[in-house]
Amino acid sequence: MKIFKNKADFRTYLDAVKSDKKSLGFVPTMGALHQGHASLIEKGLEQNDMVVVSVFVNPTQFDNREDLIKYPRTLEDDVQLLKKISKDQIVVFAPTVADIYGDNVISESFSYDGLEHEMEGKFRDGHFDGVGTIIKRLFNIVKPDRAYFGEKDFQQLMIIKKLVEKLDLPVQVIGCKIHRDEDGLAMSSRNTRLKPEYRLAAPFIYKTLVTAKEKFGTISANKVTEWVEQQFEKHDLLELEYFIIANSETLKTVKRKSKYNSYRAFIAVYADDIRLIDNIALN
Ligand code: PAJ
Repeated sequence: MKIFKNKADFRTYLDAVKSDKKSLGFVPTMGALHQGHASLIEKGLEQNDMVVVSVFVNPTQFDNREDLIKYPRTLEDDVQLLKKISKDQIVVFAPTVADIYGDNVISESFSYDGLEHEMEGKFRDGHFDGVGTIIKRLFNIVKPDRAYFGEKDFQQLMIIKKLVEKLDLPVQVIGCKIHRDEDGLAMSSRNTRLKPEYRLAAPFIYKTLVTAKEKFGTISANKVTEWVEQQFEKHDLLELEYFIIANSETLKTVKRKSKYNSYRAFIAVYADDIRLIDNIALN
């Protein structure tokens, strides 16, 4: 399996791939790969000749220094997982911070027509400027035909689609379903940091989303939100940061539901000092 840790060598290699007229899928990641990432890569392999997987813990999208420092970095294990999927159709790009940012580790500012002011944008200052900065740079290096993002980070997926539309980039952005552990917990690189009692408690998040979805069929969005808030007030270990029912396209919090719109519920929860997010389609 080819692994590039430097932008210049990687570009030379990609130029050769392109001149062979091979189609290129791209899965950007921050590493600590799990089956959720694997499902994106597998979809990429179905639709392209080659898939580039980037592994880069992007400093500009972290608003919390501690979270950045503690973010798991496991490149050797990541490569083992990727080799099991395909040795010859996957290429890994794992650049250094200096390779991407030089000595200027700052974000560009982006407007995503208001998508950035909701949910994660409210609670994680500057997060989507950091995501836009890294994805714009990576798209510029990789120049993929298709790029794959998980619905696990639904707001991020919408924001990348908006970025591509606004910058008129020649890449197709493809959303992929949330991959869950058997007990329902959405897979995340942060799950490995959960202490056992918190890992046992965490499936409560998805269970609550599923019940919220059932309730959404019969009671108002406000009532569902109140119900969810009560469930977390009663919970000893999990602390709710937000639960929001929003329009799936604008991501604006729903005031009065209409059968003509589609809605999703979004949740962010602290399990000890680990922040977990999840979401579910409601209709
Ligand atoms: P990371 O959290 O590593 O996720 C990489 C991709 O995998 C994202 O598109 C994410 O939505 C997807 N993903 C993660 N867990 C998933 C799951 N359980 N099911 C389906 N897809 C899942 O998201 C990032 O990295 C970064 O913000 C990045 C886009 C790489 C920019 O730095």
